[in-house]
Amino acid sequence: MPATIEIIQADITTLAVDAIVNAANNTLLGGGGVDGAIHRAAGPQLLQECAALQGCDTGDAKITGGYLLPAQHVIHTVGPVWYGGDRDEPELLAAAYRRCFEVAHLHGVKSIAFPAISSGLYGYPMRKSVGIAFAAAQNAVGLFPELERIIFVQFNEGAQQVYREEAARLGIIS
Ligand code: AR6
Repeated sequence: MPATIEIIQADITTLAVDAIVNAANNTLLGGGGVDGAIHRAAGPQLLQECAALQGCDTGDAKITGGYLLPAQHVIHTVGPVWYGGDRDEPELLAAAYRRCFEVAHLHGVKSIAFPAISSGLYGYPMRKSVGIAFAAAQNAVGLFPELERIIFVQFNEGAQQVYREEAARLGIIS
């Protein structure tokens, strides 16, 4: 069975999946947005493990335990800051999603939940980011047969609407 691609409105920290993805920064030492929420919910041991990782390049991803989260792992990635689109933002965002799936694969992850990487503080226009996220997911479905669930998580109704509209436009089944 190929993986299902799901779109849900939720707080990603509540999901009992093999891995949730964190939209982190290059230090991996925490921050606001989903990063702050994940660190608060996981507890201080997450920060300890992150501190040993020596940061993360934009477009790369690194994995840790989930500690107090219901998710087994956290895959920390760093999306690009949006400067208008001509500083390789689409390529860097695609790389961030791709690396999350590669790291997930190396750890036998079957269910993975993504926030809208870069679409908060980093300012990437959400509608433009969604197609990149879906393309990475469809690619991963073809590459990694162990994947069962790919979940795109939005924090609010407006974001959920954008994901659903883009899914319909691109013919992605949820
Ligand atoms: N569950 C799901 N989605 C969430 C949650 C949550 N609990 N909280 C926020 N979002 P952002 P970025 C959504 O700003 O743009 C941090 O300070 C949010 O509504 O968290 O990649 C890092 O340390 C938005 O749609 O990440 C970096 O410095 C999406 O998650 C910087 O922010 C991403 O918003 C990274 O910025």
